[in-house]
Amino acid sequence: MCMENLRKRKVEQAFIEHYGNQPIIWVQAPGRVDLMGSHTDYNEGFVLTEAIERNTWIAARPRQDAVVRVSSQNIEGGAEFSLAVISYDEVSPWSNYIRGVAHILQIEGYSLNGFDGLIHSTIPFRSGLSSSAALEVATAMLFKTLGDLDISKLDIAIYCQRAENEFVGMECGILDQYSSAMGKEGNVLLLDCRSTTSEVVPLAPGLMVMICDTKAERELTGSEYSERRADCEKGAKALQTAFPEIKTLRDVTIDQFEAQRNNLSEVVAKRSQFVIEENQRVIDMATALEVGNFQAIGSLAKASFIGARDLYEISSPEMEAMMAAMSSAPGVIGARQAGAGFGGCMVAIIDGQKTVEFSKYVIEQYQQVTGIMAEVYQASASSGAGVLKF
Ligand code: GLA
Repeated sequence: MCMENLRKRKVEQAFIEHYGNQPIIWVQAPGRVDLMGSHTDYNEGFVLTEAIERNTWIAARPRQDAVVRVSSQNIEGGAEFSLAVISYDEVSPWSNYIRGVAHILQIEGYSLNGFDGLIHSTIPFRSGLSSSAALEVATAMLFKTLGDLDISKLDIAIYCQRAENEFVGMECGILDQYSSAMGKEGNVLLLDCRSTTSEVVPLAPGLMVMICDTKAERELTGSEYSERRADCEKGAKALQTAFPEIKTLRDVTIDQFEAQRNNLSEVVAKRSQFVIEENQRVIDMATALEVGNFQAIGSLAKASFIGARDLYEISSPEMEAMMAAMSSAPGVIGARQAGAGFGGCMVAIIDGQKTVEFSKYVIEQYQQVTGIMAEVYQASASSGAGVLKF
């Protein structure tokens, strides 16, 4: 039996045990990994991103009342709420991604159907692969399917980002939700976060994307993410006084930045420099990946990591150990951080013939230095969210 059927059987079994009946609708939404463009999304910049094969499923059955009942095979606890009164859940915080999406869709005037749902995810939590966005996007896809709602996938991405910003309280950009909703099988996307449009970037033949999970949990409960975001806003605002056409750091050229650098505080200058340079690296990386310019892929990825470590300060000792392991591994072409940083997963672009040697080497080297058993796997670009048909 193939993995997908086995997974389906297990989830179906658990659903019947939990709710006493068969699920009749199945939806999925994938995680994502970024190949270039850390923290550029909330600066209205560019990101190279792909949806990955690891995803979140919701098996569901519509209800006749306006109640949502959910439980998860990955996390303890469940939640039940009425669509008429949606409040923040302190007991099962993961259910806030579902509540938040319902809340925003209702504000937008959609009439929602209640359901019993069971969640099953293969995306590791807090590893920087967007497990929360996948849950949000799967939830929106489920409401769309249950109520036959006229919502585009782009709207799903935008509403899910709002759910996270306005209901969950995390000021993320559009990257995660866009990738999960709009991913394209076999293709990397060059996402423009200002216009929320993307172009497909075909990877040169023979390249493989590898995810290298440091297994050092990303702890973004602190204020690091919002501090970075606020510093970028300060940078853009200060630069605006000299160049009124600037709206966000996306609009700033490196020459403009250099001319004004001394008018920025040291921290704001470092953060701004990283974002301005990273944005340019996204554009350059798109070309390098398409034409298979290995030298450029390697140097752009390395510069991205150095900037993330020294200017944006989102690295960690485990990430440095992983970077060293990836960079010296057989078959490596380029290696860098992924997601928000502060631990979690990193990403490498390698020679597709060397996946086994690469993985073995990285795991061994990383373990020698950190004592931690990393996980390394291929990340083929997958389709965005959809209804599962068996
Ligand atoms: C997190 C956020 C995204 C993005 C990345 C960093 O994943 O959710 O919006 O800012 O960090 O690029």
